[in-house]
Amino acid sequence: MEKKCINIGIAGFGTVATGLTKLILGNSDIIYRRLGKKIKIKSILVKDINKKRDFLPPESVKFTDKIDDIVNDPEIEIVVELIGGTTVAKEVIKKSILAKKHVVTANKAVLAEYGSELFQLAKLQNTALYFEASVGGGIPIIQTLKENLSGNKIISLIGILNGTANFILSKMSQEKLPFEQALKIAQDKGYAEADPTLDIEGIDAAHKLIILIMLAYGKNYPLDKLTIEGISNTDPYDIKMAEEFGYTIKLIAKAKDKGGNLEAGVYPVLIPKKHILAKVDGPFNAILIEGNGVGPIMLYGQGAGGLPTGSAVLSDIMSIIRSSSYNNTGFYSDQIEEASILEDKYTSCCHYFRFQVEDRPGVLAILAGIMGERNISIAQVVQRQEKKGKYVPVVFLTHRAQIKNIKDAIEEIDKLSFVMPGTKHYRILN
Ligand code: HSE
Repeated sequence: MEKKCINIGIAGFGTVATGLTKLILGNSDIIYRRLGKKIKIKSILVKDINKKRDFLPPESVKFTDKIDDIVNDPEIEIVVELIGGTTVAKEVIKKSILAKKHVVTANKAVLAEYGSELFQLAKLQNTALYFEASVGGGIPIIQTLKENLSGNKIISLIGILNGTANFILSKMSQEKLPFEQALKIAQDKGYAEADPTLDIEGIDAAHKLIILIMLAYGKNYPLDKLTIEGISNTDPYDIKMAEEFGYTIKLIAKAKDKGGNLEAGVYPVLIPKKHILAKVDGPFNAILIEGNGVGPIMLYGQGAGGLPTGSAVLSDIMSIIRSSSYNNTGFYSDQIEEASILEDKYTSCCHYFRFQVEDRPGVLAILAGIMGERNISIAQVVQRQEKKGKYVPVVFLTHRAQIKNIKDAIEEIDKLSFVMPGTKHYRILN
């Protein structure tokens, strides 16, 4: 007789696992109507069974601190990995797949680093390894790329993929706060990862971009080849200047197909205020995708939090229960090839610079000369009488120029005796 109840095991009981548990309990009626089956949480793996918890599942749920109690329990069909990190989490995923269990994970770090290995293992074992919650929290971006846009060639995707960074930049802009103060508020609100370096240095967004590239292009783009710049050096002065020029600063993750080569990276950029992504504020995430059939589409929603992320995890669990065959990456045989990479230094866009220079005759001409020699054409220049010691800020906006030339120019300019080193540079999204 067909089973009427599917047992799952959860590894980890933090924010997302709590959100998932609340949804499984609170939405049991709609889940049953949709599946014709109940989902039962049988066991939860935690580090410390005796830890005081604000929210507890029903008493029938067993807490355990032994991985084997979950991965080797024959009654558990689906293991939900919500531990995070890449050590114990990887062990739980691997052991579960080897035990022929289906796995649902929200773990972007483990997939960005070990995705190829884990997807191959899942293919061999004919199990599902689903990961809707790994990118964009509650936003259904994985399924969108895997299924709904599967007939498109993806021309480009640009995402605001880290809510903490977006919240910090929004706060700095709206309330004129320094970076440290805005970070503290983000942490107090619980948006940041346990280690906020992952959020503010762009690494969390990079993990997510690697996953999106795999789904959009069927390519493995190694994390160590990706250009990653964070926001920890953001100065409120540049946010103010960018605004005066009609831009807002956002941390974006971008991938673009350039004739078969992939241009990709995570960095803060100036976005024109009327651009749709400029309106994505606070902890929200958004992904703008351009397919050659569908044209541009944008998905927007909560990129973190227990219930939104739990909603994505639950959709994976339900989708596994409904299916009888599994494709994890959206590519036939789950074959993921190595990406052919367009190196960052050969990419080009428009740029924003802020130099701090001594205010004396000939200075601007020298800066402009160095840029001109490197084929960097200036679009706008502003000098303000806002002295910092003996230096004044000079802001340049340029036409399109290659990153290599930009880096060379900054290196040369920063060595000049009348320039304070540490020139600020941002790419402009256009
Ligand atoms: N720390 C992440 C963010 C949430 O701020 O977006 C989960 O990926």
